[in-house]
Amino acid sequence: MRLDYFLAHSTGLSRKDVKQLISRGAVAVDGEARPRASTRLHPGQGVWLHGEPVQLPGHRYLMLHKPGGVVCSTDDPDHRTVLDLLPGAERPGLHVAGRLDLDTTGLVLLTSDGQWSHRLTAPGRRCAKRYRVTCADPVTEADLRLLREGIPLRGEDRPTLPAAAESLGERSLRLTLHEGRYHQVKRMLAALGNKVVALHREQIGEIALDPALAPGQYRALTDHEVASIAP
Ligand code: URA
Repeated sequence: MRLDYFLAHSTGLSRKDVKQLISRGAVAVDGEARPRASTRLHPGQGVWLHGEPVQLPGHRYLMLHKPGGVVCSTDDPDHRTVLDLLPGAERPGLHVAGRLDLDTTGLVLLTSDGQWSHRLTAPGRRCAKRYRVTCADPVTEADLRLLREGIPLRGEDRPTLPAAAESLGERSLRLTLHEGRYHQVKRMLAALGNKVVALHREQIGEIALDPALAPGQYRALTDHEVASIAP
């Protein structure tokens, strides 16, 4: 899509006004030193007007407070899915960016923008994911040190990447990971001989679960939150 057409669509301004803004340098586009009205935008390319991100029309970005017992896939024969928690009109085209296990609660991001969710989940990006973890047995200082340094997981060649681990009590901790391996938190604690009894995701990158959202509730991400997952 042409830049002037995209901006007119997303801001409601006339093509003439948009062209003036572009020629005055009020518009920035990723990877384009001097965007012109005729510049062609590619999917996932960011556009800023007066320093504020402008979203490609049609893309939607939501945060949801996932309750336990709900799956993150888009359909499931046995369980309710996170999409079932949204009104029918919201659902088409949405997918989950970074799944949680059935029993894990907390922040889930849903979007129609495949490029954006790829940026969240691509291993090379090392996007931080912060969890509150409750364990069956006490977590020692030595355990925290091992979690911070990286630990071997059963059946894998590479140890986990260094993580941030902070005690929240005898059996609970806050763990921030920069990768997303299968059941990673549970497997890390299992490698220490412990067992996760409750797991809650608090934050992904700079996007924190809104405390105003009760389990099962959702809201649209702000432009700032969307733009924080930078191209
Ligand atoms: N790690 C896990 O073990 N489970 C989750 O749901 C998320 C991270």
